[in-house]
Amino acid sequence: MKKMLMINGSPRSSGSSAEILRAVAESASGKGFVCEMINLGELRISHCKGCRYCKAHGKCVIDDDMSPLYGKIQDADAIAFSVPVYFGAENGLFKNFLDRLYALIDNKDGTRTVRFGKEKKGIVAVNCGAPDGNMTYHGIMAHLFNVLKSFGVTDISSGIVPKASPETVRGSQFLKDLIEAFEFQMSL
Ligand SMILES: Cc1cc2nc3c(=O)[nH]c(=O)nc-3n(C[C@H](O)[C@H](O)[C@H](O)COP(=O)(O)O)c2cc1C
Repeated sequence: MKKMLMINGSPRSSGSSAEILRAVAESASGKGFVCEMINLGELRISHCKGCRYCKAHGKCVIDDDMSPLYGKIQDADAIAFSVPVYFGAENGLFKNFLDRLYALIDNKDGTRTVRFGKEKKGIVAVNCGAPDGNMTYHGIMAHLFNVLKSFGVTDISSGIVPKASPETVRGSQFLKDLIEAFEFQMSL
């Protein structure tokens, strides 16, 4: 069985970001994935201290709920990010998670290597309240693409879901398009 690790970046475990991942999981299980959802809002993940301990020791100096996630990320065949927009950017909870991925980047003698584990597919779903957010927030998507690309993940399906609410997000054409893109990606 292939593993998909799903990161719900919202502090809300039953919000739109989670609902988007549930819809993706239904599709992914039909494609042979076992999906695990991580609700960042239920975890205690401190912000990166910027101490660079990880560069000398190959692991983060902070031992908190991020610690088990490193192995889960490395072991996954696909990684899905579902992220709400806060003030025109990814929310801080998710950004803290991203910053802590710095511990998976080695830089020895000027040579940069990443420890992101298995080759993976990527899925990035951004959602927001604004009705025109699909046109406004491409910069966030480009940024999240670049983060995944920096870890060697280049095969990415993505979508921005505007005017999101947990009750209506399933009916969003933008979510349907994202799932269609994912299923096409899996068929290649
Ligand atoms: C602090 C805060 C800031 C927000 N800023 C924006 C914003 O700049 N643009 C936008 O379209 N929606 C914004 N929203 C709305 C959320 O992006 C939207 O409700 C999202 O669907 C929440 O996802 P969730 O249900 O998974 O928590 C903001 C919400 C909060 C709580």
